[in-house]
Amino acid sequence: MAQPKNVPEFTSPAFARDIVLSPTLRINERVKALWAAGKTVYHFGFGESRFPVHPKLQAALAANAHRKGYLPVQGLAALREVIAAYDGRTLHTTISPDQVIVGPGSKALIYALQMALAGDLLLPTPSWVSYAPQAKLLGKPVHFVRGTAVNGYQLTIEALDEAARQAQSDTKILLINSPNNPAGYMFAPEFLQELAEYCRQNRIVVISDEIYARVGHGFRPHVSLAEFYPEGTIVVGGLSKHLSLGGWRLGKAIIPKEQPSLMPALRTIASEIWSTATGPVQYTAVTAYSNDPEIEAYITECTQIHATRTQHIWGMFDELGMTCPQPQGGFYLIPNFDRWREPLARRGVHTSEELAHFLLEEYHIASLPGSAFGVPSEELSLRIATSYVDMETDEAAAKVLIAWRQTPDKEVFMAQHQPQMRRALAQFPQFISDLSSGAA
Ligand SMILES: Cc1ncc(COP(=O)(O)O)c(C=O)c1O
Repeated sequence: MAQPKNVPEFTSPAFARDIVLSPTLRINERVKALWAAGKTVYHFGFGESRFPVHPKLQAALAANAHRKGYLPVQGLAALREVIAAYDGRTLHTTISPDQVIVGPGSKALIYALQMALAGDLLLPTPSWVSYAPQAKLLGKPVHFVRGTAVNGYQLTIEALDEAARQAQSDTKILLINSPNNPAGYMFAPEFLQELAEYCRQNRIVVISDEIYARVGHGFRPHVSLAEFYPEGTIVVGGLSKHLSLGGWRLGKAIIPKEQPSLMPALRTIASEIWSTATGPVQYTAVTAYSNDPEIEAYITECTQIHATRTQHIWGMFDELGMTCPQPQGGFYLIPNFDRWREPLARRGVHTSEELAHFLLEEYHIASLPGSAFGVPSEELSLRIATSYVDMETDEAAAKVLIAWRQTPDKEVFMAQHQPQMRRALAQFPQFISDLSSGAA
């Protein structure tokens, strides 16, 4: 909408210029508009886990709906206690509830952490879409640690060191994410040991985004950097992914004991921005973090479905000759189409944005360009989220879960109970064959 002539523009020019709506939310809005217009679109653009709310959590939320008061800024004491015990088990250490802060989603906590911590941001790419824009909103310099498609975008100490040398600040912040969105890698303990040494020697504090910790595909266990670098690692997580509760907005961060000034800083930020995470959700989250065997089994089950769907798509991409690292966790893929650069160029596709647009318009595939994840625009990569297709509505998602329970054979499950996915996946061989034959 154009600015009316007789009214001054009040919005800060920074937002009009280069800070725009998060690309994941933007693609979601575009797909919904296309659906509303009756168009077929297969939605691989949005990484939302869609499984039903576990019945125990539904019941707990209903039972706590009457709790309307503000809760402590740092989070409900009972919730911080269960989170400390739960994360203490996974991180193989003792965590005090005083080290835990709860907020309205891990996104808000990562933003607060970037605000509270001193220093430039070192950001391995590809990386989740919001880290760099958050730094930009805060005026924080970002130094990208470039990953490459051929080595599965794995972080290396050499690349990290190169980026760290460009940073002018005395201390630096490294933001890591394992299991990784979008590349799907999970760090090996040997690498984490090396990384811990490097960070310790170079005054680097680490925000470790472990929101997909419970969504590993079974190739290796999730291990946190906090096990090797407890004094300098802040572990962030939440309920959005493994329990499909993105809209409940419940995130948590574990602050090292050795950083006594960080929690007060976070509390100050929280008190001035969100006051407290939603009360009934915090009471309910006590159940989510109580190590309830039924809820734990449900997490495993949902993760197995994510893994099956994601590995199935990866297998097809691999067969089609795309360069695409095999994910070890999460529900994302980042295929690269550089191999088809020439036929794509003949169709006017030179960047990942143009590629995403082309696939949406010509093949009904909604994805995100690699550029949204910090991959250079001319690298023809796309981010494919595998969690949404065939689970667009709550009813459809519930059906997938039932089908999974009734179909022990994964091949049969994929072949017979994912109708949209089957149609959607037929688009990729068609696309590649059109490129190869010159028909697209
Ligand atoms: C890597 C990563 N970190 C954080 C988040 C944000 O999650 P939350 O719902 O806890 O804000 C997401 C959501 O897509 C994500 O993919």
